[in-house]
Amino acid sequence: MAEIMRLDKFIASQRTDLSRKDVKELCKKGRISVNGNITKQSDHKINAEKDIVSVDGVEISYNKYIYIMLNKPQGVVCSTRDGASPTVLSLLPPELNRKGLFPAGRLDKDTEGFVLITDDGELAHRILSPKNHVDKKYYVELLKPVEESYVEAFSSGMEIDGGDVCKPAQLIPCDDNPNACHVILHEGMFHQIKRMFEKLNNKVTYLKRISIGGLVLDDSLKPGECLVILHKDVEKYL
Ligand code: URA
Repeated sequence: MAEIMRLDKFIASQRTDLSRKDVKELCKKGRISVNGNITKQSDHKINAEKDIVSVDGVEISYNKYIYIMLNKPQGVVCSTRDGASPTVLSLLPPELNRKGLFPAGRLDKDTEGFVLITDDGELAHRILSPKNHVDKKYYVELLKPVEESYVEAFSSGMEIDGGDVCKPAQLIPCDDNPNACHVILHEGMFHQIKRMFEKLNNKVTYLKRISIGGLVLDDSLKPGECLVILHKDVEKYL
């Protein structure tokens, strides 16, 4: 379906540094064009998928949805609102923080790492739906050393507290730290990794998500930093 919308709404949704009021002013000054023609009416209707809109001669490329890779720090919650703690949305720079954003999946407050923030509900459903098997990979540090038997325990699908039975998961010990490993889950139950290690009489001391499907957390991102991912990469890797 064609995306017909007002020019000011279109520009303000794509250029988060410009409000609809700013767009009105720019229109009046003749700084906005549609398909090469200066347009002074900010309520002019455009087809967002076809028309070429430029501000000061710079074309605006149309992104229906936005996809943000955030390296969540500890102490921040994965929800859109929380009275007491900062949320992942509160970490986004103003130019990225647009309406309708939410985290596609949750990490515990004390877990670090990759959270995908988007306004694309269909994609979020795809990542989260257990039948789509989007793998999530974590780096884990433990109080006590990783034991050889853990590999088999994880791959056989263990029962954890409360009677939940986990799907087979992979555990890969780290060569450089006896108390560390990587875990790949094909589902996401509440506190799952912590509960799996509790069952093995161990305790998670540090947890970080490093990938979702084929999308790997960019290692240049410090906790609290984010970057925009292209739609074509989301399609390719998720
Ligand atoms: N497993 C956990 O226990 N916590 C997380 O945040 C993610 C996976």
